[in-house]
Amino acid sequence: MIIGVPKEIKNNENRVALTPAGTQELVKRGHTVYVQQTAGVGSGFADEEYAKAGAKMIKDAAEVYSLAEMIIKVKEPIEQEYKLIKKDQLVFTYFHFASYEPLAKAMVESGAVCLAYETVERVDGSLPLLIPMSEVAGRMSIQEGAKYLEKPLKGRGILLGGVPGVKPAKVLVLGGGVVGTNAAKIAAGMGADVTIMDVNLTRLRYLDDVMPKNVHTMVSNEYSIRELVKDHDLIIGGVLIPGAKAPKLITRDMLKTMRPGTVLVDVAVDQGGCIETCTPTTHENPTFIIDDVVHYCVANMPGAVPYTSTLALTNATLPYAVRLANQGWKKACVENTDLRNGLNVIQGEVVYKAVADAFNLHYTDVKKFL
Ligand SMILES: NC(=O)c1ccc[n+]([C@@H]2O[C@H](COP(=O)([O-])OP(=O)(O)OC[C@H]3O[C@@H](n4cnc5c(N)ncnc54)[C@H](O)[C@@H]3O)[C@@H](O)[C@H]2O)c1
Repeated sequence: MIIGVPKEIKNNENRVALTPAGTQELVKRGHTVYVQQTAGVGSGFADEEYAKAGAKMIKDAAEVYSLAEMIIKVKEPIEQEYKLIKKDQLVFTYFHFASYEPLAKAMVESGAVCLAYETVERVDGSLPLLIPMSEVAGRMSIQEGAKYLEKPLKGRGILLGGVPGVKPAKVLVLGGGVVGTNAAKIAAGMGADVTIMDVNLTRLRYLDDVMPKNVHTMVSNEYSIRELVKDHDLIIGGVLIPGAKAPKLITRDMLKTMRPGTVLVDVAVDQGGCIETCTPTTHENPTFIIDDVVHYCVANMPGAVPYTSTLALTNATLPYAVRLANQGWKKACVENTDLRNGLNVIQGEVVYKAVADAFNLHYTDVKKFL
């Protein structure tokens, strides 16, 4: 198959959809890989490394799109890319269709086959192409939180791990899923006193088993959250109710009960946030302060660590990309249900119910095409 890897052009997006190692895996299976020049530079991969791995380097994005049977990307296509996508071309990337109608309509009009990373789903309901980014964001939430706890950045001025003779900081993690578990692990490793809250008792039992001694678990409810926020230094929001807006677990009135310089990191901000006072921020201007409480609410946290994020993402996407290249999308989706769940738009028809419902578009059962 002929595969194209364009450079990401969305503002501040430095990830790339294929590494030189991934290129080599595809090339050695007989596929042709076109990579747009400088596509990997933001993630630390030079053109020469791709060329050495067997890629053909191309200057122009339009040429990459016109040559490729499958486009592998990271972010959803933006307006200037819509017209480059061809009929019957397979586009494998994050789309998040339900959040942007013009994109859904443009992809329907293009006649392309759109396989969305975010809806590739295993039989157990897990989302293998979202997990790596939650792992990155969860770990990073503590790194950022620790930084903003420093006095010059308006935090309380407390060191997460304390020192001999001085108590460590207290970290509260809301949600014990992928984000929460990764956050707790890093906070615990830095020596903080950590509490994870979740509504799922089975999950809490598991975390209680595997986490180190400085991590405690608690059932999440308003009463307990109200108590705990009073003496915790860093609070991480990592809750998710699939398909719904995040519940507001920290309400505006709770801020007044927190100590000045408390830091809130709302990782769930991309789903509306679980802290009432959080509104999305960017890496250029990541924080704001309300009632002396520092709010960090960056919606694309992994974007700040493109080297790690690119490797984490491509580790997860590559096996699927290889399968799509080897078998073509139809056969691959017939044989692999994870991939079949990723099909959102096929040749002008919406085949993912939630996307059709979101914009009142006609829904076609994917079986029509397989
Ligand atoms: N900002 C970013 O850059 C970024 C990056 C990756 C993920 N995210 C977001 O982080 C959020 C968490 O993702 P995840 O992969 O950890 O999800 P997940 O499904 O693995 O975990 C969510 C957890 O929240 C728990 N939960 C639900 N309601 C709760 C409540 N009322 N109190 C406490 N816990 C509750 C669930 O039981 C589950 O264990 C998502 O909204 C995701 O989109 C953001």
